[in-house]
Amino acid sequence: MFRNISVIGLGKLGYPMAQFLSSSGAKISCYDKDEKLVEKLKKNHGEHLHEIGLNNLVNNNNDLIYHNNISDCITDTEIIYITVPTPSKLDGSFSNDIIIEILEEVAKVILKNKKSYIININSTVQPGSIESEIIPFLESKGLINNKNFYILYNPYFVALGSVIRNLEEPDYLLIGSSSIYAAKKITKFYNSLYKNPKIRLLKFKEAELTKLLVNTYLTTKISYSNFVKNVCKNFDDISDLRVLESVGLDARIGTKFMLPGGPYSGPCLPRDNLSLKKFCFDNNIQNTFSDEVQKINNDTIENLYKVISNLKNQHKIKTFGFLGLGYKSNTQCFEESYSLKMMNFLESLNIKVFYYDPYLLEKFSATKVNSFEDLALKSDIIFLSYIDQHFNPIVQVKHEKNIWDLWYHFSESKYNRVFHKVSDFKKLELQKSDKNQKIIQFNKKTG
Ligand SMILES: NC(=O)c1ccc[n+]([C@@H]2O[C@H](COP(=O)([O-])OP(=O)(O)OC[C@H]3O[C@@H](n4cnc5c(N)ncnc54)[C@H](O)[C@@H]3O)[C@@H](O)[C@H]2O)c1
Repeated sequence: MFRNISVIGLGKLGYPMAQFLSSSGAKISCYDKDEKLVEKLKKNHGEHLHEIGLNNLVNNNNDLIYHNNISDCITDTEIIYITVPTPSKLDGSFSNDIIIEILEEVAKVILKNKKSYIININSTVQPGSIESEIIPFLESKGLINNKNFYILYNPYFVALGSVIRNLEEPDYLLIGSSSIYAAKKITKFYNSLYKNPKIRLLKFKEAELTKLLVNTYLTTKISYSNFVKNVCKNFDDISDLRVLESVGLDARIGTKFMLPGGPYSGPCLPRDNLSLKKFCFDNNIQNTFSDEVQKINNDTIENLYKVISNLKNQHKIKTFGFLGLGYKSNTQCFEESYSLKMMNFLESLNIKVFYYDPYLLEKFSATKVNSFEDLALKSDIIFLSYIDQHFNPIVQVKHEKNIWDLWYHFSESKYNRVFHKVSDFKKLELQKSDKNQKIIQFNKKTG
């Protein structure tokens, strides 16, 4: 059990994680170098993250304690969770520079206070990083591995918008370690925090690779789904949706991520695919697989552009409305959002673009509107970028409006997918109890 935990990096993953860790009863000391963010968190308790369930943790009577520097933050703690960015480099690998910057400070504290720490890295790192960069860096400061410091690699599998549920109910906990002491301590802690957790204790490189391979399996499933969509495209008597649902009913395959829809996007999946590619390249491993997955993803975006061109040339649309412009529901994050790519393409064709998104704060070249009604009034066609509870009231809209329902939210078959009339939606709403509709609704796109 840990009584004192420090968390460094209070972003989209770090802050919810700090709040989640507070449910253990441990004292949670926090630090983020972004002072403005810290002031905001003190006031709004992560409201800007839109994470479902976060509020319950905020109100658990175990408030986070904020510090102004790393030294004060970690001094009294036993374990340091590090959840800072590991930006992608041009070659596709992840940079450890920010982790190293933090370890520089941690090393000073270890040397000064003659105290050892368990250092738990949650950020996604390039396979090989812990043994070839992180441990050697701390050793270069005169510290002894598994004596003055104990490294754990413990990435979480979370999707933005459901981070709390993913933290509270993980399929399993992935831990890389080279120390029996640290492995025992974290296992004991997680056994007290979770009911019967599945803990996978691996060597560092195994854990680093596993993190990437899980996400790249998801990108594979998404590209496979879009490949099936292409296979079915030319046949009027084949529904890609029904075929994929049926394939997924085989328990060896599973229904999750088996939806003919958009490309994978967001802050993790695209870059994890590139990172795996770089890992294989560095290790002389033949890998046409990552290229193919990425190529199908790029083709999926190209196909969206083709539909847009068709909408302009054949249907003479002049205006276009996005119902959601970020890459998914419940997040301000818009990294690698294909809707933004579509927005740029539309604007290059001189089509006026409007959007309604209840989460995005950033300003874009498209015009933001504040209600679906306004969007419906201004746009010749509406594109449903992602599925969201806020979008359900659109069934009440009186206008006849064309909806491009990429995720089959309102549709059961592909036959009438692109040009649904809003007046049809009341009818489709009634079918929500239908099993097929449920599969459509619960298979969200990726994080
Ligand atoms: N967001 C996700 O869904 C998700 C999922 C799985 C893994 N990850 C991984 O977790 C890591 C963090 O991701 P995130 O989405 O939380 O990033 P983020 O950008 O939302 O948050 C990172 C935070 O770290 C802070 N920070 C930067 N440099 C710092 C420093 N020197 N000292 C202290 N704080 C510093 C930033 O101010 C920011 O608040 C990344 O490696 C990411 O790949 C993220």
